[in-house]
Amino acid sequence: TDIEKGTYPHYMLKEIDEQPFVIRNIITKYKDADDSIKLDEQVRQAVIDADRIYIIAAGTSYHAGLVGKELIEKIANIPVETHIASEFLYNMPLLSKKPLFIFISQSGETADSRGVLVNVKKLGHKTLTITNVPGSTLSREADHTLHTYAGPEIAVASTKAYTAQMAVLAIMAVDAARAAGVEMDFDPLQELGIVANAMEIFTEQKDVLEEIARDYLSVARSCFFIGRSMDYHVCLEGALKLKEISYIQAEGFAGGELKHGTIALIEEGTPVVGLATQEAVHLNLRGNMKEVVARGAYPCMISMEGFAEEDDKIVIPKVHDYLTPLVSVIPMQLISYYAALHRGCDVDKPRNLAKSVTVE
Ligand code: G6P
Repeated sequence: TDIEKGTYPHYMLKEIDEQPFVIRNIITKYKDADDSIKLDEQVRQAVIDADRIYIIAAGTSYHAGLVGKELIEKIANIPVETHIASEFLYNMPLLSKKPLFIFISQSGETADSRGVLVNVKKLGHKTLTITNVPGSTLSREADHTLHTYAGPEIAVASTKAYTAQMAVLAIMAVDAARAAGVEMDFDPLQELGIVANAMEIFTEQKDVLEEIARDYLSVARSCFFIGRSMDYHVCLEGALKLKEISYIQAEGFAGGELKHGTIALIEEGTPVVGLATQEAVHLNLRGNMKEVVARGAYPCMISMEGFAEEDDKIVIPKVHDYLTPLVSVIPMQLISYYAALHRGCDVDKPRNLAKSVTVE
């Protein structure tokens, strides 16, 4: 490949570090001369014409889709369902009258997602691909494309593509809301600028995260990530990152669901990462953390400025509620990276995984 690592030991670390620049690049690409959102007129029309959106994706892109559902529903007021591509056709939901299918795919080549695209096109439905590779199969075959502008992603574990996908989804949602005449005080281009600055706090001070990784994960057999609401989706992604590159068994759970079974797995010293960036739910999540600590868990709490507490290990700078996943995932990516490093794993090319999976 002609993409160089430069002074970086791994592509993954380079790509994690690039995220503030990627977000600023997205702001530039989606900004018009008068500071309003610049977005393809046809894409805008397709989104506002839809009475329901079906997001289809796999892996990390699916996790971006879970956040995308919340953003589109809250901001643009359009109902959204997010589905795992490989499962969608087995039990296709009853579709609405004017559905729009959105495929989220870093590579634009994932066979599971393409399988759905081919089928829904046959049924005559409208399609949009959000991808990092315009000209890819999913991009060529869909009616419309939105570009995530993250630049080539080489490491198998996806990092910057995920944050870029969520940024573009937020911009798309606000654009649709404005086009539909919805009043709103959330300016995504401005708020994403704040996000880019917040990301830098972590990419510039990695030693704390390296220490946490060594401390919590050098010898751990398993690790749990718990969160509520939007944070829950980020926990799924945090756990996936850790599994992919460090081979530690990791699971993301909804904070309130843990007690309904999985809490049986908590033993003396089991690391549990708690994520609370949504003020409305942080007290409940802290309650869940107390429950696991009482059973021996070793807690790593990640919270946000404004309602952080003294023992919290990581505090993310204040960003808009809608955009916290873009920032809170950065410490998780870095902790996974250092955990893999300390355990001697091949960070950029983990066993059994491929960057893009072109078989179903
Ligand atoms: C593979 C990769 C994952 C990725 C998933 C979806 O499994 O290893 O990192 O999230 O495919 O890929 P896509 O290119 O469709 O986003």
